[in-house]
Amino acid sequence: MALERTLSIIKPDAVAKNVIGEIYSRFEKGGLKVVASKMKHLSRSEAEGFYAVHRERPFFGALVEFMISGPVMVQVLEGEGAVSKNRELMGATNPKEAAAGTIRADFADSIDANAVHGSDSLENAAIEIAYFFASTEVFAR
Ligand code: PPS
Repeated sequence: MALERTLSIIKPDAVAKNVIGEIYSRFEKGGLKVVASKMKHLSRSEAEGFYAVHRERPFFGALVEFMISGPVMVQVLEGEGAVSKNRELMGATNPKEAAAGTIRADFADSIDANAVHGSDSLENAAIEIAYFFASTEVFAR
């Protein structure tokens, strides 16, 4: 499998639960390296821009409100097959359907507040990484 980078966000619910370190530990134990990281409180326009692809979906307004409700941790993860590996570690979008031992099964309360975001393709990962990080902020390790 190829070395990839993916964008990960620890969402406001998980930051508020004080489980940033536990989630980083899942990434590291899963073979992913944190190669960029920042805490941010997203503005409304940043959240709307990030989720623009979902603009027409019925939950768009709720998703944006949730994502601006508190600070998030944004990171770039690097590793073999990082895009799919991160999604495997996260578990299903709806925590009720997430496999035991995944981040969402252990830390998410609902589909609205589901603890983490991860890029869904290599193509989107490149777009999402560039949305939050300059190339000088992403480190080779
Ligand atoms: S995914 O993970 O992209 O395959 O899931 P998808 O179903 O396409 O959902 C896209 C993002 O929208 C969030 N979502 C919701 N937010 C609020 N309410 C409801 N009902 C809801 N359904 C989906 C979901 O968590 C995805 O957010 P990200 O940040 O991409 O994980």
